[in-house]
Order: sequence, then C-alpha cells, then structure tokens
Amino acid sequence: MEIQKLKDTVQALMAEGKGLLAMDESTPTSDKRFKVVGIPQTEEMRRIYREWIATAPGLGESISGAILYDETIRQKTDDGIPFVEVLHKAGIVPGIKVDEGAHDLAGFPDEKVTDGLDGLRDRLKEYAAMGARFAKWRAVITIGEGIPTSTCIEANTEALARYAALCQEAGIVPIVEPETLMDGDHTLEQCEAVTERVLRSLFTRLALHKVALEGILLKPNMVLPGEKCPTQNSVEEVADATVNCFNRTVPAAIGGIAFLSGGQSAELASARLNAMHVRHKDLPWPLTFSFSRAIQQPALELWAGKPENVEKAQQVLVRRAKCNSAARLGQYTEAMEG
Ligand code: 13P
Repeated sequence: MEIQKLKDTVQALMAEGKGLLAMDESTPTSDKRFKVVGIPQTEEMRRIYREWIATAPGLGESISGAILYDETIRQKTDDGIPFVEVLHKAGIVPGIKVDEGAHDLAGFPDEKVTDGLDGLRDRLKEYAAMGARFAKWRAVITIGEGIPTSTCIEANTEALARYAALCQEAGIVPIVEPETLMDGDHTLEQCEAVTERVLRSLFTRLALHKVALEGILLKPNMVLPGEKCPTQNSVEEVADATVNCFNRTVPAAIGGIAFLSGGQSAELASARLNAMHVRHKDLPWPLTFSFSRAIQQPALELWAGKPENVEKAQQVLVRRAKCNSAARLGQYTEAMEG
C-alpha cells in the first residue's frame, strides 16, 4: 500500500476552506431529480447538466474534489474534453462512486445492504487509469420499529471495510459513507444512538481489514431528528450532538470527515456545519462537506433543463459552494445567501 500517495490525496481533498461536491447520482436517482423539475431523463441531458457543473467559473475556489458516476467519468464536454480533465484543470480532484446501490437485505424487512464488491478490484484499476484518485461507497441505515438490526449494521460495515481495503490496495482513497437516514419520526437522541452504533462497528471492521485510517475519509450523516419528528432541534443542538457523537467514536487518525447533506435544506446544512466550527475548536479531525443536494438542488431547479438558464444556475451553484466553504471555516452568515 502506497500510504504517502493516499495521504497526499487526503490532504488535497481536505484543503483548508474547501469541501467536496457529490455529483455521482446514479441514473435512477438522477432521473428522479430531473423528473421533479420537468427535465427530460436522457443520457444527453445528464451530460449537459454535468458539463455546466464541471465548467462553472470559480467552482475550484471552494471545491477540492468531485465525485463522479460511472456514466459521467466516461463522458466529455461539447468540445470533446473528458470531464476528468476539465475538473483537473479547475484544481478539483476527480473521484468515483463504486458501489452498486443499496438493495433489500434478505430476511430483514425494510433494511438494505449495499452491493458492488464483485469485480471491484478490476473496476478500481480501470477508474485509477482514467484519473480517479478517490472513491465512494454508501451504506444506508434506516431507523424504525426494531431497526436497525445488528445484522444490517454488520453486513454494511463489513462491506465498507472490504471496499476500503481494495481501494487502498489500488492507491485510491476510500470515502467511507455510512448514512443513517433522516426519514421517519425518530428523535435526535435516537439518531445519535444509532449513528454511534454504526460508527463503532465500522471502525472495528476497518481495523480487522487492516485499513490505514490516515488514508480514508469518513462521509457520515449529521446527527439529526427524523424529518417527521415533532421536535426539530436547533442548529446549535444538532452541531453539539454531531460533534459529541464523533468525539466518542471516530479515531483522531482518520484523514477527515466530510458530511453528506441527506435531504436537509441547503441553508440548514451550511448553518449546521458552520455551528460545529464556531462552537467546537480544536477538533481532532478536519470537518467539511461532501454535499450533493445541498449544493446542487437550488441550481438544478433554476436551470430546469433550459440553455438560457445555465449561466445563472452556475452562479447559484458556485454561491452554494462558497457558503459551505465559509461554513467550513466558521465564517458563514445568513447574509451570504444574497
Ligand atoms: P446528499 O448530500 O444529497 O445527501 O448526497 C450525498 C451523497 O453523496 C449521497 O451518497
């Protein structure tokens, strides 16, 4: 394992004041988002969308890395330049989603396990040759009546650890993403307890698979009440619960933490990340963002598939990236929303 190469990538991704853009929606997820806004769900529309994101002027000032999907890493701009190259020129490190989605866990109703380990060693080699320097694998944990079960947690964290080991073997930094969903009416305390269970299991499995912690990034959920919970906690309470949960469970050695947004509004995601930095100094790991919806959604809605809206949509996208960049430094204010 080339640990220095992994550390260099980690350092580039966690660069001061920057974070990641997840633009790795699978085709079904992308279709779902396009449909809501009335955009045709075609490969060409997905390519056009990803082209104006990757070429948005100034994106590289706030974004250190972008996560691509298999279809996207093979696509090019109108001028025939591969997206990987466009990102590279913008100072953005290209990465790739390598999991094959969360599927029903046999025997465990309402629970999922993520597939994608078969053939992964060869796929990683191919992606590395195409210029990907990091990867992502998302596991999904649902809170509900009697769930998550230990079987579901262990099946997912075992897969995450095997994926992470294969990535490091290939010289690729694994982003390890265990997402406890905000779907449901559970409380912040319930989310905290489940997130803690998942992270304890994850770091045990990573150790068993000899994964070098310095060469991974963790991409977790923030600790939040369920979206249907009658008690919606303050920004400060969310920030404290999240940082306290990670202080108890996440080793100081890891390369960094980059949150997913998970369906929070773009503004709340920025405000909560900001509060973590304002209220908690001397954190053991750098803390940043790796958002998809909380960066893209406002711009996607504005674009609506129309060429005449591209420039404005790019500006909105870059402003969201800048808001999150400020949040990472504890310098975000509502006034920045414009
Ligand atoms: P959201 O920020 O929309 O949750 O997406 C992050 C991500 O990469 C999910 O895998």
